[in-house]
Amino acid sequence: MNIVRVDNYEEMSKASARYIIDKVKANRKMTLGLATGSTPKGTYQYIIEDHKQKGTSYQQISTFNLDEYIGLSAKDPNSYHFYMKDVLFNHIDLPLNHTHIPNGDVLDKEEECVRYEAKVKESSIDLQILGIGANGHIGFNEPGTSFQSETHVVALAESTREANARFFPSIDDVPTHAITMGIASIMASKEILLLVSGEAKSEALERLLSDQLPSEDFPASILKTHPRVTIIADNEALMATGITR
Ligand code: PGA
Repeated sequence: MNIVRVDNYEEMSKASARYIIDKVKANRKMTLGLATGSTPKGTYQYIIEDHKQKGTSYQQISTFNLDEYIGLSAKDPNSYHFYMKDVLFNHIDLPLNHTHIPNGDVLDKEEECVRYEAKVKESSIDLQILGIGANGHIGFNEPGTSFQSETHVVALAESTREANARFFPSIDDVPTHAITMGIASIMASKEILLLVSGEAKSEALERLLSDQLPSEDFPASILKTHPRVTIIADNEALMATGITR
């Protein structure tokens, strides 16, 4: 795993946007794997800024998102469908019919998982952007998820619901389940860019960078076995690791 250390969230966002833009310029038809949450928001802002100022085009790019809550419609402001339009899709020239997000608002969730996984496999993700949960989750793959998992329905860990409650009126409004790409689906990406910012993630990052063998009780640990992972992490996130410039 290649580690890029940056000073703070702003610098992480700039560096990751630059990383993604360079890849897009090198392969105009690439398939990007996208993440939601607080971590990639700044990256998306810089991608939008670059698109507006320098005209980088996403017309032939396809995207796949990692996950979606179950039970929220695409119009719900807390759905990841809404989030992606709000923070990225509405502001660049990426055709909406090139974007893919699991649909958490269907009757047959299992069928939706099979459909989504088949789409991901058919397209093959060139670069997957990832955040990490304080408990080591990637996507919504909570501790204990099989490393062999494909797109599936998950029960969210209480700690994840608590962490995400900040976006909802109350914790009771946070969905209990989600559809997520599995760990095997994520690992099939040709390349992975992991973004880590802030003290709240420092223990998780320390564990990821430790000598411990990959273990299903810490999902992100599987990334050690992927041949092309770049981690862009800020000082606060790296503080527990002893890694200095
Ligand atoms: P965050 O979430 O970016 O909102 O911290 C990351 C994650 O839980 O994967």
